[in-house]
Amino acid sequence: MEPAQKERTPFADIDGLPASMSAMVLDALTEMGRHTEIRRVRRVAFDMLRPRPGQRLLDAGSGSGDVARRLAAEVSPTGEVIALDHSASITAAAVARHDGSNVRYVTGDVGAMDLPSDSVDGVWCERVLQHVDSADRSIGELIRVTRPGGRICLIDTDWSSLGFDGMPAGLGEVVMAHVRGHFTPKQHDMGRTLRRRLVANGLSGITATPVTCVFTTPESAAVVLPMVNPRVPEETWATPPGLRDEWLACVDAAGASGTFLAVLTIWVVAGTVPG
Ligand SMILES: C[S@@+](CC[C@H](N)C(=O)[O-])C[C@H]1O[C@@H](n2cnc3c(N)ncnc32)[C@H](O)[C@@H]1O
Repeated sequence: MEPAQKERTPFADIDGLPASMSAMVLDALTEMGRHTEIRRVRRVAFDMLRPRPGQRLLDAGSGSGDVARRLAAEVSPTGEVIALDHSASITAAAVARHDGSNVRYVTGDVGAMDLPSDSVDGVWCERVLQHVDSADRSIGELIRVTRPGGRICLIDTDWSSLGFDGMPAGLGEVVMAHVRGHFTPKQHDMGRTLRRRLVANGLSGITATPVTCVFTTPESAAVVLPMVNPRVPEETWATPPGLRDEWLACVDAAGASGTFLAVLTIWVVAGTVPG
């Protein structure tokens, strides 16, 4: 029998994690931002959001603030980026990395933001909605704070697209069943629901692009996929109890023979707020 799905993820409350885990989360976000496949996803999103000098943008669920600082470079010299995140510890870490660009770091809940209506020209919200209690309430808030004609860009994972090749079939199936059982329903399909959520809210000019990330080495995959990362502790959900060593040995063997493959689709969806 598969383990019961949890309704919340560690990213829903980073401040509630043990300090060692929240440090690991920050490192993971930083490493992910450097990964070529995540950079490919972000290039698609930049093209869809089309940031321009002078704009005020919101990065909702901004994590380490890396994207907010990149957006700030695009809207400079007169524009501004608000980097909003639920976690006080992640926000403090983002502030510690501040590079002098025009970013204002704030803590807040994307589902109930302390920002005036129609106050930003555009929104970036990356891999956040799979972690919030109500994606629709959060999208409603993102629309509320965006001026008519402003653009909203949502990026989220479709974890049900996760697949591996090069591992023994039986073991791969057991591991995948275990992993799937630990994703919340929102993690399973958030990416592919984004387009219809924007349609339902009356946005225009909607574009939806699935970016399938391809990982051809275990090292590259481990940055984004905890179930192949040997640094993720055994006591977490990432691998089935008792099978972790066997699974990771197979991952290593597939890497050594050059046959390792993992794929994961991340959706980039944008639309314009009606006037
Ligand atoms: C997977 S991380 C993504 C961070 C960043 N967008 C990136 O792509 O690197 C999810 C982020 O969403 C934040 N978050 C989770 N729930 C939130 C909420 N209700 N309101 C605002 N931020 C939230 C977490 O604290 C975390 O920093």
